[in-house]
Amino acid sequence: MLQLDWSAATPAAIGATHGFDPTHLSEKYAQPLAQAVEQLVANATKTGAWSRWLTLGNQPQLVAAINAYAASVKGKYQDVVLVGIGGSSLGPKALFQALRHPQWNLLSKEARGGYPRFHVVDHMDTDCLEGLWDILTPAETLFVVVSKSGTTIEPMSAMLDMMARYQAAGVDWTKHMVMVTDPVKGLFRPFAQQHNLPTFEVPDDVGGRFSVFCAVGLLPAALVGIDIAELLAGIQAIYPTVTNPDWTKNPAAQGAAVLVEAMGCGKPIHVFMPYSRQLALVADWFTQLWAESLGKATNLKGETVHVGPTPTKAVGPEDQHSQLQLLTEGPNDKVIVFVDVEKTAHTITLPTVNDDFAPMKYLTGATIHHVQAEELIGTRGSLKDSQRPTMTYTLPAVTPANVAQLLFTLEVQTALAGSLLGIDPFDQPGVEAGKKITQQNLAARQLQPV
Ligand code: PA5
Repeated sequence: MLQLDWSAATPAAIGATHGFDPTHLSEKYAQPLAQAVEQLVANATKTGAWSRWLTLGNQPQLVAAINAYAASVKGKYQDVVLVGIGGSSLGPKALFQALRHPQWNLLSKEARGGYPRFHVVDHMDTDCLEGLWDILTPAETLFVVVSKSGTTIEPMSAMLDMMARYQAAGVDWTKHMVMVTDPVKGLFRPFAQQHNLPTFEVPDDVGGRFSVFCAVGLLPAALVGIDIAELLAGIQAIYPTVTNPDWTKNPAAQGAAVLVEAMGCGKPIHVFMPYSRQLALVADWFTQLWAESLGKATNLKGETVHVGPTPTKAVGPEDQHSQLQLLTEGPNDKVIVFVDVEKTAHTITLPTVNDDFAPMKYLTGATIHHVQAEELIGTRGSLKDSQRPTMTYTLPAVTPANVAQLLFTLEVQTALAGSLLGIDPFDQPGVEAGKKITQQNLAARQLQPV
């Protein structure tokens, strides 16, 4: 089971000036957190509360439908391309990196168990897109177009380009596209109906960045052979813990309390740093979740607050050689959130170092994972020595169930932090505003001769 240890953020570890006192946090947050948890659970089935993501651990029918679809297309395609952006791509990317072979796309089809290669178009970079098309064969490619709103300009552009290329190649694109979108709203739903495309839903009241455990994340995962039932079993296993109103027994509540308290104590920068290459993209996913959910101009009372933490992403040990100097000696305005993994699937043991290389002898017989674990301990130690608060989520291993527990716990942590801050963590007016301006400008441009 996932664990959170924030003892390295307490006065006992780093002194009273920078540490967060558990007794003080208890007095300040125990009751609001208990209320926030109860409210969140009550809202999970309430229309318009945007908390339905909390129920996504329990969807046996969706799992069956997705697995049936994935089985029906298995072996037919060499490549699957996910087209989507933000909440519609960051979760699937994180799951793919964590749970598939690190060189998946370079393996033979047999070595991939007959599953396709996997690519994501979540950008508007012409040259990267063209580069992808250099390796795709239209007749052997399936596009998974994902957009909750069904109005987003990036997936729409990539989809239009895809359709044109299929037409030019004389291949029926409608046989190469599956859509994940809102059941009713947006442009993609009627488009899918018009062209008879297979579709899956982003359910009502599940927003983009909380959508990884609906078809948005589950469909791409199943298409590359990730066990999606095990993902959801992981959520079910941790659900009672992360919905425990007693904050001392709830890692999501503890994470929320420490990080919200930190924001009020001059530490608004939250560095998310997995010590695992496989979990590097979880940092990207978390960055969006934390930033877009908590960065708000107004609170629930309608007052102007301009509140929000600044998440940054790092990965260990690489960023020891990039960001650690700043984290250790720069402004003490950050909390570093590590993710540790206890066990790897493989073991690499370093060979015996002979006397010719005496200075390297201390590595003799160590496993690479053990060396990395010591690096995390060293990094945490150096941060402790310079009074920098850290906390650590620990996963027993990178498995579907454990990764799901990490993501789900972070979702609950985010919702609870939003509640403590008195803001709505489920809207994103700042993002919508930018989308609208772009669309208006492009529409106006269309009316002008170019
Ligand atoms: O979390 C969110 O709501 C956003 O980041 C969206 O996921 C992003 O803007 C993409 O939107 P859509 O899925 O509607 O295309």
